[in-house]
Amino acid sequence: MAAKRPLVAGNWKMNGLGAALSELRALRERLAQDPPVPEIMVCPPATLLTRAHDLLAGSTILLGAQDCHPLPAGPHTGDLSAEMLADSGAGAVIVGHSERRQDHGETDAVVNAKARAAFRAGLTAIICIGETEQERRAGTTLEIVRRQLEGSLPQDARAANVVIAYEPVWAIGTGLTPTQADVAAAHRFIRGELGRLLGKEESRDLRILYGGSVKPANAAELLSVPDVDGALVGGASLKASDFFAILSAYSRRGAG
Ligand code: 13P
Repeated sequence: MAAKRPLVAGNWKMNGLGAALSELRALRERLAQDPPVPEIMVCPPATLLTRAHDLLAGSTILLGAQDCHPLPAGPHTGDLSAEMLADSGAGAVIVGHSERRQDHGETDAVVNAKARAAFRAGLTAIICIGETEQERRAGTTLEIVRRQLEGSLPQDARAANVVIAYEPVWAIGTGLTPTQADVAAAHRFIRGELGRLLGKEESRDLRILYGGSVKPANAAELLSVPDVDGALVGGASLKASDFFAILSAYSRRGAG
């Protein structure tokens, strides 16, 4: 089978009014001139999905959402189902981001149900896992990652419908990043656990992204780590120039 293509996804979080679509337009134009090595995805807030989808028509930039409810429809004021996100043009949805785990008390079981909802709606689930600073200091990083993976990953997860994002919570929005050796160890461990849970072939083909303070200045270093198949980028995905600079890390090292 063809080698898996890296994925660089931008998570806009709760940022972006209509005016921010100009950044998406700029990215689209830039990538049309300079086709990227990795797959590119942008996950704007749900309010912008339809407009972003229209703007990206005919481009290779993929569109993702940031969360979904486990159920397809019902009395859940303010929530959005995976089907609604698909209907708005999303092809993927982030589930289990640490900000949702923290802000909304989402457990691994909830994240698992959300990932299954994504599959039901034909979306790729980007499942986020990662330890807090306290857990890291206690030396329990791999234990936490194993537990989150076991609990959050549906049994019918496949390389074709799931992406894992390893995002150490202490690295998100802080400018801090793990060493290359720490990233390598965590990703190798996750690959091994995926092999145990899904089988060796699926594990080999499944993309494991690194997330947490990925910037133009450190992208080449982080993305060259073995078993890192791309990045989930927060703050630096909001400006087309920064996001493009991160994508260029791949061309510079001639990956692909
Ligand atoms: P930052 O890149 O802003 O640290 O955010 C990472 C993240 O949480 C992506 O989901």
